[in-house]
Amino acid sequence: MSSQTTVIITGANRYIAPPTPPHYFMNRTHLTSSRGIGAAILHALSTSPPASLTPLTILACARSPPSSPPPTTSNSAQVHWHALDISSHQSITTFAETVRTDLAPSGVDILISNAGVNLDLDGKQGIEPAEKTLATNFTGTLGMMQTFAPLMRRPGLDGLGGRSRIVNLSSVGGKLSSGPYGKEIAARLKGAGKVEDVEQLGREYLEAVRTKSEKNKGWPVGKNYSVSKALLNAATEVVARDNEGVLVNFCCPGWCDSDMGRLIGQPGKSNAEGARIPLKLAVGDIGDVSGKYFENESVHGKGSGKISEW
Ligand SMILES: NC(=O)c1ccc[n+]([C@@H]2O[C@H](COP(=O)([O-])OP(=O)(O)OC[C@H]3O[C@@H](n4cnc5c(N)ncnc54)[C@H](OP(=O)(O)O)[C@@H]3O)[C@@H](O)[C@H]2O)c1
Repeated sequence: MSSQTTVIITGANRYIAPPTPPHYFMNRTHLTSSRGIGAAILHALSTSPPASLTPLTILACARSPPSSPPPTTSNSAQVHWHALDISSHQSITTFAETVRTDLAPSGVDILISNAGVNLDLDGKQGIEPAEKTLATNFTGTLGMMQTFAPLMRRPGLDGLGGRSRIVNLSSVGGKLSSGPYGKEIAARLKGAGKVEDVEQLGREYLEAVRTKSEKNKGWPVGKNYSVSKALLNAATEVVARDNEGVLVNFCCPGWCDSDMGRLIGQPGKSNAEGARIPLKLAVGDIGDVSGKYFENESVHGKGSGKISEW
C-alpha cells in the first residue's frame, strides 16, 4: 500500500500561498485573497495536514486554476492545481483519467465536493438557471461521486480508520423543512432506492419549472438551490449504501463569509469556521458513520457538527 494520501477538493478556488517559497510573493495569482469554503479547506489541509495522513497530495480543482506552478506549502503536503468544471461530464472524465493513470494510480483517499452555485438571487427566472444550478449542485456532484467512488482506495488508509471518504457540501437549504415539498415528492426524496430514482426526480423538477407547475407538482417555487441540495442529499444516501467500503457523508457548513454567503447579508462565520464540519468528515475520527447529514445547531454555530435529519 502506498504511503501517500491523495485528496481531491472541488471548487478549491484561489488561494493565498504561505510565505515560502518567497518568489510567490511576486505572483499576483497567489496573492489573490482566498474567498470560499473550498479555499479554506485547502488552506487547512495544506498547512496543517494530519500527521497520520502525510505525505498528503492535494489535487486542488477549480474552473480556472492558477496558471503558475503550484506552491509547495509544507514538507508534508503538496498542492497540485487542476482544471475541473463539475457541470461538464467530459471535464470530470478527463480529470478522472489523469487521476487514475498518473496522479493517484494506487487510489484516491478523500473526495471533498465543495463546488456549488446559488443563482436564485441573480434576478433570472425560468429553466436556464434551474438547469445550471442542478447541473453543478446535483448532477455534477453526483457525477463526481459516481466517477471517483470506484477509484477510491479499499481498504482505506489506517490514518482514515481503514475507510476512504467522500464529503459533499450540501446546505441547510436542502432540508425538506425549507420546502415546502408535497408529501409524495418528500417521500420519494427520502425513500430513493436507486440513483436513477433521484435522477428521475431531478428531471421532473426541471419539467415542472419549464411548465411553471412547481407548486401543483409538489415542489417549492423559485428555490432551485434548495431543490438541488435536496436532490444531492437523496443521491448521497444512495451512493453511501451502494459503496460500503467508503464513508460517504454530507453537511451544511453554516452561513459563511464567502461570495455565496454574502448574497443574503453579512455572515457571522468565517470560511475557516465553515470548513470545520467538512474537515471532520474528511479526515476526522467518525467511526463507521456513512450516509449521514451533519450540521451545527444553527447556521451560526461554529462547532464541528452532529448528525441531523435533513
Ligand atoms: N457560504 C455559505 O454560507 C454556505 C452555506 C451552505 C452551504 N454552502 C455550500 O458550500 C459550498 C461552498 O460554497 P462557498 O460559500 O464557498 O461558495 P462560493 O464562494 O460561491 O464558491 C463556490 C466554489 O464553487 C466553484 N464552482 C462553482 N461552479 C462550479 C463548477 N461547475 N465546477 C467547478 N467548480 C465550481 C467556484 O469556482 P469559481 O471560482 O470558478 O467560481 C467556487 O470555487 C457550496 O457547495 C455551497 O452550496 C455554503
